[in-house]
Amino acid sequence: MNPTFPSFSSNPGFVWGVATSAFQIEGAAQEDGKGESIWDRFCRQPGVIADGSNGDIACDHYHRLESDLDLIAGLGVDAYRFSISWPRIQPDGQGAFNEQGIAFYERIVDGLRARGIKPYLTLNHWDLPQALQDLGGWANRETVHRFVSYARYVAARLAGRVESIATHNEPWVMAVLGHESGIFAPGVRSRATAMQVAHHLLLSHGLALRALRADGCGARLGIVLNLSPIGPATDSPEDVAAARLEDGRSVRWYMDPLFLGTYPADVWQHLGGDVPVVHDGDMQAISAPMDFLGINYYTRGVVSASGAWSAQHSGKPLTDMGWEIVPECLTELLLRLHRDWKLPALYVMENGAAFADEAISTAEGLRVRDSDRVDYIARHIAAVGSAAAQGVPMAGYMVWSLMDNFEWASGYAKRFGIVHVDYATLARTPKDSYLWYRDFLQVQRNVR
Ligand code: NOJ
Repeated sequence: MNPTFPSFSSNPGFVWGVATSAFQIEGAAQEDGKGESIWDRFCRQPGVIADGSNGDIACDHYHRLESDLDLIAGLGVDAYRFSISWPRIQPDGQGAFNEQGIAFYERIVDGLRARGIKPYLTLNHWDLPQALQDLGGWANRETVHRFVSYARYVAARLAGRVESIATHNEPWVMAVLGHESGIFAPGVRSRATAMQVAHHLLLSHGLALRALRADGCGARLGIVLNLSPIGPATDSPEDVAAARLEDGRSVRWYMDPLFLGTYPADVWQHLGGDVPVVHDGDMQAISAPMDFLGINYYTRGVVSASGAWSAQHSGKPLTDMGWEIVPECLTELLLRLHRDWKLPALYVMENGAAFADEAISTAEGLRVRDSDRVDYIARHIAAVGSAAAQGVPMAGYMVWSLMDNFEWASGYAKRFGIVHVDYATLARTPKDSYLWYRDFLQVQRNVR
């Protein structure tokens, strides 16, 4: 499948990219002055990571930066999205900054620019300094101010050289998986805490935007949300109501404050005593205009009031995560977002799939024949093209992920990369999906 997209070719500014995050690839967990993150600590707990692994070595990207940058350049992408490990550059989350830490990110940014690739930076992709968690983490309002100081420092050092800065990646995940179900770091189980964390993440986003703009930061500023269309398993009133509530908790709880300056009333009422403490002026800060919205999209959500629905029985093809492959739902989501909230420039900041890939020896060397991933990516790019053709202000698309990496509670068993990583040798092998994306981008360049 090699689709071409008239709507993209008429938009020469459309950005094609590939994405990673610090904890998932860097390793070097205790090197050059890096502090401990909540994920370093969480992984030490028995039973929380499926394969018992951790991020100590990960893909060893910290020591293989130059060759990894060459892999990115070999794709012909316009942009590379990466995150900064806060504890690498400020080990305690407050006080002294670590020069060796920020130097690593300067090497990334300069290395990308030297190769003609635009740096897209994320400030917080989940790895909060453990020292701040010891003071209450994101549940403590003080962390909001620590984050703003960290953001200002990063911007002062890097903003002139990066295209885009996202404050947070997937606040819902940090709040709900980190503090309600507790399956992600820091492993707290309290709905009230989760809702306070979500509020503080949003507030820190808004206050960081305000501070960076006041500082004259030239990069484009926004946030990245994980959003899925949420539908009911059946048309029973119970399922419809349950789906509406889940849409409220996972989509509207973030979109409404960011774009309208309010929390959705139905969810607020549902939460009862678990609603967050909100101070005067918070909502105004949260709704500061953004230059872009980023979304990460993988699958849809289906909700039944009884909790009985399972993707395994839906009849749709599944990825290795057990997630349904439903590209048409990406178009549906993008149209709905633009209809309900009138969006600024919209980027798909992550899209991709885990499959059980194998590297096979062939006459031409190692090959990974991941035609299922090629199909997934091609169909989702087409879904973005369809939304763009219908008037959604699509500005970019990034594949998750450059290489196989630490998939959080799933450890290294789930492979999302378009480059295969052999964890015994750390050797990288571009998969067929890498070769396909490279060729696809070549075609896009020719039609621009
Ligand atoms: C979204 C997260 O941002 C990323 O870290 C994760 O690996 C992918 N989803 C796949 O689950």
